[in-house]
Amino acid sequence: MEIGSGMGEATAQIAAHFPATGFLVIEVHKPGIGALMNLCDKAGTTNIKIIEEDVHVIARDSLPDQSLDAIHLYFPDPWPKVRHHKRRIVQESFLELIHPKLKDGGYIHIATDWLAYAESMQRTFAACSLFTGGVIERPQWRPISKFEGQGIRKGHTVTDMKYFKN
Ligand SMILES: C[S@@+](CC[C@H](N)C(=O)[O-])C[C@H]1O[C@@H](n2cnc3c(N)ncnc32)[C@H](O)[C@@H]1O
Repeated sequence: MEIGSGMGEATAQIAAHFPATGFLVIEVHKPGIGALMNLCDKAGTTNIKIIEEDVHVIARDSLPDQSLDAIHLYFPDPWPKVRHHKRRIVQESFLELIHPKLKDGGYIHIATDWLAYAESMQRTFAACSLFTGGVIERPQWRPISKFEGQGIRKGHTVTDMKYFKN
């Protein structure tokens, strides 16, 4: 499952790279969903399903427990202002929400170009007994999305993290 595909260019490439894997995309941004649908249409991609909804609602109401092999969360909104930190998706309540949805051995792979958010995520995971993991090398199959490219051009450092369900 991918949370927040943005304009979908990385999502479409990842799905093409793993044709035998089914990808469930949860995104709230209608134009981004349209862009991903166009990319899938052009490439003949058939292993992506898209749901237009907030992932919190989907995880709470629709996803069966033990249903996901993995979760991809790439470049979630960093909400840099301190007063907006409560809007960041990676927090303890989110980890508690997604943990039962993963199969045993499942994991969440996160990438961010916002160093302070990466550090905050690492503290959140360290304080939570539900997951084990940390920083990893960027996997070669993860393409640079438009959003990531913008961050790199601004000199941001990109951090990849992988946390396995305990
Ligand atoms: C900064 S963009 C990154 C998009 C893409 N992953 C990339 O790397 O270009 C974050 C995306 O997450 C989506 N998003 C934010 N909160 C969400 C939520 N609660 N449920 C689903 N999608 C969400 C936004 O609409 C946006 O498209």
